Amino acid sequence: MSKKILVTGGAGFIGSAVVRHIINDTQDSVVNVDKLTYAGNLESLESVEKSSRYAFEQVDICDKEGLERVFLMHKPDAVMHLAAESHVDRSIDGPAAFIETNIVGTYTLLEVARAYWNNLDGDKKANFRFHHISTDEVYGDLEGTDDLFTETTPYAPSSPYSASKASSDHLVRAWLRTYGLPAIVTNCSNNYGPFHFPEKLIPLMILNALEGKKLPVYGNGMQIRDWLFVEDHARALYKVVTEGEIGETYNIGGHNEKANIEVVRTICGLLEELVPNKPAGVVKYEDLITYVTDRPGHDVRYAIDAAKIGRELGWVPQETFESGIRKTVEWYLNNKKWWSRVLDGSYNFERLGTK
Ligand SMILES: NC(=O)c1ccc[n+]([C@@H]2O[C@H](COP(=O)([O-])OP(=O)(O)OC[C@H]3O[C@@H](n4cnc5c(N)ncnc54)[C@H](O)[C@@H]3O)[C@@H](O)[C@H]2O)c1
Repeated sequence: MSKKILVTGGAGFIGSAVVRHIINDTQDSVVNVDKLTYAGNLESLESVEKSSRYAFEQVDICDKEGLERVFLMHKPDAVMHLAAESHVDRSIDGPAAFIETNIVGTYTLLEVARAYWNNLDGDKKANFRFHHISTDEVYGDLEGTDDLFTETTPYAPSSPYSASKASSDHLVRAWLRTYGLPAIVTNCSNNYGPFHFPEKLIPLMILNALEGKKLPVYGNGMQIRDWLFVEDHARALYKVVTEGEIGETYNIGGHNEKANIEVVRTICGLLEELVPNKPAGVVKYEDLITYVTDRPGHDVRYAIDAAKIGRELGWVPQETFESGIRKTVEWYLNNKKWWSRVLDGSYNFERLGTK
């Protein structure tokens, strides 16, 4: 039977991939609850916004009454909670919004979902799920080891971002244990792919290179991350919310550990092939790489063991890093309208009515 899924943060990078996946590849409906911060872009949802199975509600997850109205009106069968402040550098410059949205917002959503779920009955109550989407950054750093993060690795977050996400994970598990809220948590590695806001490493490097600007790499560029193509993540999340076990945690990863500098060199190599006509003054895209002072508290290595979700739910990523990064570079080359409206701010100002 088809479900109605309330997705928070559905106008963001991963949330919009989840919404597109549900509308395009399943029979389920979506209610997208998003405040539309700088990171929320409804233009990422143009391909699905006319579907009768899609609805949008501009609501802040810290707004209890707003959320209560949405739950009452749409009566969801499940919640997929992605709304968050998500950029580590921004969390270092201004942690307040991270505490507010990631911790207070998650608490508010949990309370509204709990009251709603308590009033359900029969199958609707038994089948309700609260799926909290989190990050592998809650586990901290694996510098100098061959270890992988598993679902039982102790939490040791380093940045205000990862500490706020760790707090939200603890809240969700407490609501599960104390109140019986049927919750599931997933922790995922770094995502990349289409519709990624150009402040993050991969889109920033692609767009800077196309404009002949410097490619700033933190420290020595040897920070290792596991990379997952965003559409693989969206497929994993849908599998978890529909087939996952209540109370379980699933780690999600791409089995693609790469040093940041390797990622940047791969992008440069693809651009040499796909855009041989370079901006004036650029001989090789790689010549644009510049090393800049490292981020304070920068974690050196993250690596995730995603065996459990493979074993228990049969999910494996469809893309390798090589196929996913090629698709991503090609997407940015073919979707200049989307990213130029992000870069000049018009996606945001027009929506807010200030331009
Ligand atoms: N990007 C990654 O690599 C990654 C990896 C693992 C986990 N995650 C987690 O996945 C989730 C989504 O990440 P993303 O990269 O798509 O983030 P994003 O920054 O691209 O999108 C966040 C979305 O949440 C919305 N939002 C922010 N504050 C809100 C509020 N108070 N109320 C309602 N909506 C609000 C924004 O408008 C935006 O649409 C986050 O919880 C993040 O911690 C991200």
